[in-house]
Amino acid sequence: MRNLVAETDLGPERLIAPLFVQEDAREPVPIEAMPGIYRWPLGSVADEAKRILEKGVDKFLLFGIPARKDEAATEAYNPQGVVQRAVRELRRELGERATLMTDVCMCQYTSHGHCGIVARSGDRWRVDNDATLPYMGKIAVSHAEAGADVVGPSSMMDGVVGQLRRSLDEAGFGDVLIMAYSVKYASNFYGPFREAAESAPAFGDRRTYQMDPRNAMEALKEAELDAEEGADILMVKPALPYLDVIRLVKDAFPQYPLAAYSVSGEYSMVKAAGERGWLDEDRSLLEMLYAIRRAGADAIITYYAPRAAELLREMGGHVF
Ligand code: PBG
Repeated sequence: MRNLVAETDLGPERLIAPLFVQEDAREPVPIEAMPGIYRWPLGSVADEAKRILEKGVDKFLLFGIPARKDEAATEAYNPQGVVQRAVRELRRELGERATLMTDVCMCQYTSHGHCGIVARSGDRWRVDNDATLPYMGKIAVSHAEAGADVVGPSSMMDGVVGQLRRSLDEAGFGDVLIMAYSVKYASNFYGPFREAAESAPAFGDRRTYQMDPRNAMEALKEAELDAEEGADILMVKPALPYLDVIRLVKDAFPQYPLAAYSVSGEYSMVKAAGERGWLDEDRSLLEMLYAIRRAGADAIITYYAPRAAELLREMGGHVF
């Protein structure tokens, strides 16, 4: 009866699995702060994707860790770069069954770890928003050329969605979708990701381009700009500490699919408590994902995607 009257449903089709690919790795490299998550070498990332696919998750979000970094993130738009090669490998191995999404940002590729081009004068610095935009366009086109279905600009530069839409259209990729990281907070919950992607800023922080956790209404402004610029999917990130914002954005933009990114810190805190026996990991992760769905997310990006898919198949909502 509880299932009959349950208000919220969740299935593996709504889950997106992030995948880390490391250019110079020879074997899977465990990420210390995210037990169970690895950086995959080219050549074996497709095997991991196949294992995830067998569990029922067929959407992947790729992050690359390049062997070389520089000030202009050259490797981010190299046609032979790590993500471009990974996309080709996954397409070849998985075919059209898989939806391939890529992260369009610079922070894994810049020597300073910021998400855009840094302008310096003396010891003062700032991320130059407008100088960064054309690079974002180039990165997105290189991903589309490799075969990406969806690009996800996560740099939080103003105007990046419009730039990507123009660049993709001009290059003949009018059917590549944009999943906009519209509402992205300057969050502590990204901590483990920065270890995973080697993308911690070498100086300063990201508060000049990411949102203040104290703000909710500002999310509507960010979402509106991205919608006007041509976003296909809007996103709120992180998810669990921002369920109110997910609901707010969903209600204000019901005509847009909404994704929520349950970030590395959300994964790691449940994982850590589970390992210590302080929480029931499986039940807690399902409760977290159902809550994100209940708040209004249509899609959930989560490192728990394969485990959650398994659990949803085995017991569905019966856990509650
Ligand atoms: C930045 C980016 C970040 C994440 C995805 N893309 C973090 C950041 O802004 O430092 C975080 C994802 C996570 O924590 O799982 N391009």
